[in-house]
Amino acid sequence: MPRINLRVPPPATNLINAATRLCAVFGWPIKQSASPAMHNAAFAHHGLNWRYVACEVDPKNLRAAIEGVRAMNFAGINLTVPHKLLAVDMVDELDASAKKWGAVNTIKFENGRATGFNTDAEAIVTSLREDLKVGLRGAKVLLLGAGGAGRTAALKLATENVAELFLVNRTASKAEEIAGEIKKQFPLVKVFVGYPETNVDLILNATSLGLKADDASPLDKQQFSLAQAAAVYDMIYRPAETPLLAAAKAAGCQTANGIGMLLHQGAKAFEIWTGKPAPLEVMRRALEENIYGGTKS
Ligand code: ATR
Repeated sequence: MPRINLRVPPPATNLINAATRLCAVFGWPIKQSASPAMHNAAFAHHGLNWRYVACEVDPKNLRAAIEGVRAMNFAGINLTVPHKLLAVDMVDELDASAKKWGAVNTIKFENGRATGFNTDAEAIVTSLREDLKVGLRGAKVLLLGAGGAGRTAALKLATENVAELFLVNRTASKAEEIAGEIKKQFPLVKVFVGYPETNVDLILNATSLGLKADDASPLDKQQFSLAQAAAVYDMIYRPAETPLLAAAKAAGCQTANGIGMLLHQGAKAFEIWTGKPAPLEVMRRALEENIYGGTKS
């Protein structure tokens, strides 16, 4: 006689079923993303039957991919390199944050409409405060990189009333363009293109140099010495310690990687989609496990 299985089924939140709501991150490449670990931990914490997946989306297919998940009633998506600027023209509406920073890293789908948000800019400043205890008002900052992330960081630092901002980028014209924008919008911030001759409170790496083991340093040591910086923040979080951060530590600088920025942009996105408070410590632990293989000591 067949045995009847009387085991109580696991709670619905452990199952992927017809009621499961979906979120995703689109990037190119995407394999290294720690966002699924962070968001799935947060959904589980709240007992939500939601799941978050990572999708490799070629930029030429971005519009089709956004339309696809909207049609499939996804709750929302995140966008990472190189989609944040492209997505600005692919939503029905931009909230104030996306308008202000000219980039979209979060989309919420509701009643068939797509609204774009930017949760990156706030996250940079929150992480700098938490992880490096850097007071930005009146600070001197050397910012490396003038791509999407560099541009958002530069403008956000200007709104935080840094005193002097030095912009360095391989393609100098992009740094010039950002400097021009800051001069117009924030006349009290002294902005320069090129390396400083004085000490700085902070070096912020917003280039992608350091992601690959054989990358050159984003900082030209002939032009500026790490001994002239009090703190160094690298937006890269994988590897957890880039050669820049290792050298900065050896030079006696305070250091932090981009985990805090990833955490805070994700926390805000979680709140936008679910309307629930982000469980920050749960999300941080999930990230640390994913990136360090355990909690950072
Ligand atoms: P993100 O959205 O992460 O900022 P991005 O817009 O592609 O991505 O910007 C990448 C940044 O890393 C840019 O500052 C880029 O310099 P360019 O503006 O000159 O392209 C910088 N970067 C990438 N590869 C580089 C390399 N091999 N040498 C120097 N800088 C590099």
